[in-house]
Amino acid sequence: MKFNIAKKGGVVAQLIYEDKIEGKYLSHLKNKELFSAKAEEVYYNLDSDLNAQLFIGLGKEEKIDLDLLRKCFFKLATKLLENKVAEVELNIPKLNNLCSYKTASAIAEGILHASYKYDKFKSDRKELPELTINYNPAEGKEDKAKKGINEAVKLMDAVFLTRDLVNQPPNVIYPETLAQIAKERLEAKGVKVTVHGKKEIEALKMEAFLNVARASTKEPKLIVMEYYNNPDSDEKIALVGKGLTYDCGGYAIKPAESMLNMFTDMGGSGTVIGAMHALADLKAKVNVVAVVASCENMISGDGYRNGDIIGSMSGKTIEIINTDAEGRLTLADAVYYATKNLGATKLIDLATLTGACVSAFGEQVSGAVTNNDEFFAELLEANERAGEIVWKMPSIDYYKKMNESKVADLKNIGGKFGGMMTAGLFVGSFLANEDIPWIHIDIAGTAFISEAHGYLKEKATGALVKSLYYMLSKTDK
Ligand code: BES
Ligand code: ZN
Ligand code: ZN
Repeated sequence: MKFNIAKKGGVVAQLIYEDKIEGKYLSHLKNKELFSAKAEEVYYNLDSDLNAQLFIGLGKEEKIDLDLLRKCFFKLATKLLENKVAEVELNIPKLNNLCSYKTASAIAEGILHASYKYDKFKSDRKELPELTINYNPAEGKEDKAKKGINEAVKLMDAVFLTRDLVNQPPNVIYPETLAQIAKERLEAKGVKVTVHGKKEIEALKMEAFLNVARASTKEPKLIVMEYYNNPDSDEKIALVGKGLTYDCGGYAIKPAESMLNMFTDMGGSGTVIGAMHALADLKAKVNVVAVVASCENMISGDGYRNGDIIGSMSGKTIEIINTDAEGRLTLADAVYYATKNLGATKLIDLATLTGACVSAFGEQVSGAVTNNDEFFAELLEANERAGEIVWKMPSIDYYKKMNESKVADLKNIGGKFGGMMTAGLFVGSFLANEDIPWIHIDIAGTAFISEAHGYLKEKATGALVKSLYYMLSKTDK
């Protein structure tokens, strides 16, 4: 994919509103029910590239928003790639009062979504055909369009990094390789990446993390990524990602069907690595540190058990009710480390944490728990910009109390009910100071989807990379 600004050439894509079907050709198509310019409709008649007719339906102008543009242009690019069209000309006027920068970024993003595929392990994989997009914005808006397109290109590069990490199987992506890839990809963009092995994790007394990792022959890794680019600010925002490169459940073993996709249980770490990549690549003015406590939840004669009482870096003791509620244990130590040792002033954790979240929200909405509505409002604003949905759950003491154990400080399951909230609040109770603004985002449903939706293809989505980038870079202004 190649984007040019203010350059003519290639098949001209005509943008058509539903209520503005004019001229013989389009009226004919409408009468024959071949094209009626409904939103996301694409008509392509390939006589020859020179004589091709290419129409994109935009629906009603007043209904156009950024996400609709992403969907429309995803469909368009999909069609162009299918037909191996080499060059397309897009003449983009002002659309429903959207600014030229955001319009260009949404259109480029939609197009780029069409270019992602995960076929690394297929012997007969083929390269995508080259497609050049000549983008002509409204007059005088060339610089704005250029900014939008450049931003989308880098942002999608980060989203694809996340997708590649999450899609790959657990014999390829395990703590060591996850750490290696984070190091390679992020250091190239100026992020400092430090990887701690088992000895250092032991020295840090990350007992909860170590217990989860115990049954695996793969060494756990604590991956710390630092990007400081705002010397004028005292804020240091931590992104903490769940990094279970495989979760078989441990002794509370999962049935085969539920286990199959548990290589995606490092989705949170994929997201934070992608977000760091985007922030550094686009030189966001912000201080961010990301922490991933990566390991596998496996079975062996030395695995932790249901019934064990374990410690944690914070000193709090935890009764293990179920070894399959392991994510919150690794996050507990990572969150404590980020706030205590690294001095984070705000924290967002992302995790494929609960099946309860998937039951409640399905695959297009992430669930959240927070202790700070102002901080959460910043995330909501970024979600709007990114076209992603996060829904806040109640975080009342009722749920917090459910995590209390009779024999230890906490237990790793709240009980039968309210699983998304109790899991989130468990993680929050390991902030070094519980007043630190914090958001927990459960991406169990959204990180990896079983069905394509809009511009998201099935499997890994890279969900929330864009939102985190927009939230932390504040490029919106
Ligand atoms: N990794 C799973 C959660 C999950 C479920 C992620 C579905 C992606 C898709 C997590 O570690 C887990 O096993 N959670 C248990 C917790 C239970 C034992 C309290 C669950 O949700 O069933
Ligand atoms: Zn589990
Ligand atoms: Zn898990």
